[in-house]
Amino acid sequence: MAVKPVAARPTALEVMQDAPVIPVIVLQDAAQAVPLARALVAGGIRMLEVTLRTPVALACIEQIAKDVPEAVVGAGTVRSAADAQAAAMAGARFVVSPGYTRSVGKACHELGIALLPGVATGSEIMLAQEDGYTALKFFPAMQSGGTGMLKAWQGPFNDVRFCPTGGVTAANAGEFLALANVACVGGSWLTPADAVEKGDWERITQLARGAAALPRR
Ligand code: 3PG
Repeated sequence: MAVKPVAARPTALEVMQDAPVIPVIVLQDAAQAVPLARALVAGGIRMLEVTLRTPVALACIEQIAKDVPEAVVGAGTVRSAADAQAAAMAGARFVVSPGYTRSVGKACHELGIALLPGVATGSEIMLAQEDGYTALKFFPAMQSGGTGMLKAWQGPFNDVRFCPTGGVTAANAGEFLALANVACVGGSWLTPADAVEKGDWERITQLARGAAALPRR
């Protein structure tokens, strides 16, 4: 099957619509970055969120951007304008934040990088929308009301698309993906810490394959 090309600067909606799942990745060792990215791409998942939670995260983003051109690497856990700048400099092509602030929104506009801002309330959605963001991460999804919350938002926020993340698993992803306002889900289950540590790339490819095959609306 022909692989659809990705724009050099994909929009947040393009990032969300590429596959049913965006893997949330935590890397402890920069040497894991390239083989992990290749394993996910082999399973059909190419939008990769590397979280800025470890000292090696930016180096990992840099290596994936350089050595795995089939992947589109993004930075997660971006909590400040400085984080967004550092991520973009390292080669991230999208940014995911656990919440929304005007300074992160402004920085991403200025950098010309897609932002998936985290929201958990109507006020946060309205603030992000005021700043031009309409493809949002719902975080933490399970803890904040899960599919019930997303259904409630379909009325007042029917122009917003969400990527629920936080407590989403292979077992419940389908319930989220069945909703009209869900473009994809995010989760860490494609990259279990023990598989990453052992370098069990085949297991990660299998998990990615399962995720890529999940049906969505
Ligand atoms: C996170 O911030 O770690 C993500 O939301 C992933 O959450 P999960 O581990 O529940 O998938």
